Amino acid sequence: MNMSEPLSSKDGTPAASAPMVELRSVSKQYGAAAALSEIDLTVAKGEFVTLLGPSGSGKTTLLNIIAGMAQPTSGQVVIDGRDATHLAPSERGLGMVFQNYALMPHMTVFDNIAFPLRVRKMARAQIEQKVHDVLKLIRLPDIAQRRPRELSGGQQQRVSLARCIVYNPSLILLDEPLGALDKKLREQMQLEIKRIHSELGITMLNVTHDQDEALTLSDRIVLMNGGRIEQQCAPADLYFRPRTVFAADFMGEANLFPATLRAIDGDTVRLDSPVGELQAMRPDFLAGEGAGFTVLVRPENVTMSTSAAPGANVVRGTLRDSIVLSGVVKHYVSLAGREVIVQEANHARRRTHLPGHEVFLTWNWRDALVLPAQ
Ligand SMILES: Nc1ncnc2c1ncn2[C@@H]1O[C@H](COP(=O)(O)OP(=O)(O)OP(=O)(O)O)[C@@H](O)[C@H]1O
Ligand SMILES: [Mg+2]
Repeated sequence: MNMSEPLSSKDGTPAASAPMVELRSVSKQYGAAAALSEIDLTVAKGEFVTLLGPSGSGKTTLLNIIAGMAQPTSGQVVIDGRDATHLAPSERGLGMVFQNYALMPHMTVFDNIAFPLRVRKMARAQIEQKVHDVLKLIRLPDIAQRRPRELSGGQQQRVSLARCIVYNPSLILLDEPLGALDKKLREQMQLEIKRIHSELGITMLNVTHDQDEALTLSDRIVLMNGGRIEQQCAPADLYFRPRTVFAADFMGEANLFPATLRAIDGDTVRLDSPVGELQAMRPDFLAGEGAGFTVLVRPENVTMSTSAAPGANVVRGTLRDSIVLSGVVKHYVSLAGREVIVQEANHARRRTHLPGHEVFLTWNWRDALVLPAQ
């Protein structure tokens, strides 16, 4: 690129600096029910953003509104600096990949991928080159003459991705594209999508309710809850710095203790809880003594032992059960009418903790996060 060129597209809009997608106060009503409430969302060019959230939280509705397959009740959709709120789907310059591969069964892989190029009246030789290139990109160079039913689920999903990539959209929307695949294949395809994303630099907006997929793929996760954005941040922050009990509980496993503030003590706070005295990181929101909070401690930050000196963040319980997974062991400990999960690496050493025995659980105050009460 000539660096003296101004960063603007041919029609004069500042496309290079504009975000790829901008939703401004977008709401969607179905009758009296709000599927989306005043969503503000910006997706930067080249970014990989995942919409994550429970069933019915509005993920597909949001994607469909960006794609133009649903109209917002109010608000504005801006794509690449252009108001797209009332544009037809075909005028939005984006591609969409769905959960069910939606390949045309009677056509070969070649014809399926060539289809959007033929619709765009591309020359034959150019079509052949493009299909060839994209089959190489998805690492299936030799399947052009097969029909979809002669492919595995993962291969079909790659072909539908290829059909989307082949016409160089600047934005790809993916609605649970890997939902139908088994775990192993899903993980392979996640890496494949990640590779394609970084090789081509296409902006991608992906919908999933699979946390691991969101963590693997995303530059940013947008967590949805009841038609609203609960939290949007880098994947690690959603796990380590959730802002709400909903976010903490949705990502991974969470030990959550209701607690009331006793005192602020430097960088920490001291709280009273049904499991005993807790010490936690001082939150950036402050409230008076006696205010109610929830304290989060992740299972991998809890240490289990047979004895411990009394103090804050030391609780005593009964080991109920231990489950050995491939790389980790999970212990379920009951205390004060609740269950606490402890997770440790699965070392092949002799176990000293037996179900039914008394155990002590401890954790560092740096691993205890104060959240607003639920
Ligand atoms: N065409 C429609 N008519 C009426 N209500 C709808 C329609 N489409 C979606 N909804 C409702 O809007 C809400 C959000 O639905 P949406 O499909 O966006 O959820 P989702 O987050 O994609 O869920 P899932 O994970 O199950 O796919 C739900 O309560 C759903 O019942
Ligand atoms: Mg959906």
